[in-house]
Amino acid sequence: MTSFSLALPKDKPLFLKESDFIGKGNERACYTNPLNRDLCVKVQRRKHRSQNKIEKYYYTKLKKRKNLSPFLSEFYGEVTTNMGEGLVFEKVTDNDGTSSQSIYSLLKNKIISETEAKEILGTVFQDLYKNAILLGDVTKDQILLKKTENGYVPKIIDGLGTRRYGLKLFLVSNIKALARFKLVKRWKTLEHSLGMA
Ligand SMILES: Nc1ncnc2c1ncn2[C@@H]1O[C@H](COP(=O)(O)OP(=O)(O)O)[C@@H](O)[C@H]1O
Ligand SMILES: [Mg+2]
Repeated sequence: MTSFSLALPKDKPLFLKESDFIGKGNERACYTNPLNRDLCVKVQRRKHRSQNKIEKYYYTKLKKRKNLSPFLSEFYGEVTTNMGEGLVFEKVTDNDGTSSQSIYSLLKNKIISETEAKEILGTVFQDLYKNAILLGDVTKDQILLKKTENGYVPKIIDGLGTRRYGLKLFLVSNIKALARFKLVKRWKTLEHSLGMA
């Protein structure tokens, strides 16, 4: 191999540009995937945290199970970008193409009622419980409601697994009873943070 071929790698990193920026959290920034606008790419903003590492591990584990919840934004694997390693997910948008809002902001702005929110949350909880999927890192904006012709479809975009990459993540990935036990506890925190407990 010549140094020339090394200088021109076949797999060029995916170029994420600011005009494709969707939003950011404490740890990651999210961009529309320039190769497929139905997908998004999440890159770490702070190198010392490991949200992408946690999700890559957990989603890969979950994908091996038969009945994956319909309420997770789907995971499509890893990609190298101009901003470092990224994870590719289904981009959650309403039917008109605009970004879906979180259940928290819809509730706060009175676009949905507390009764509706409770019903939606109850459906998500039952599904996660049945499938032993842990939502371990509770935040206000991690459940988006995708507006469709048939009503809202909840989609979890953040916080699956544990808060840190380590032994606990391994355990909840492999011991369903433990994932369920922790989910029940975290769900109370979630309801509380949404002002519903
Ligand atoms: N699957 C997705 N579809 C659409 N927008 C998303 C998706 N995931 C994240 N976002 C947007 O990017 C922001 C940051 O993503 P998030 O996963 O919450 O980052 P962090 O891990 O730093 O908390 C979200 O608040 C949301 O606006
Ligand atoms: Mg977040």
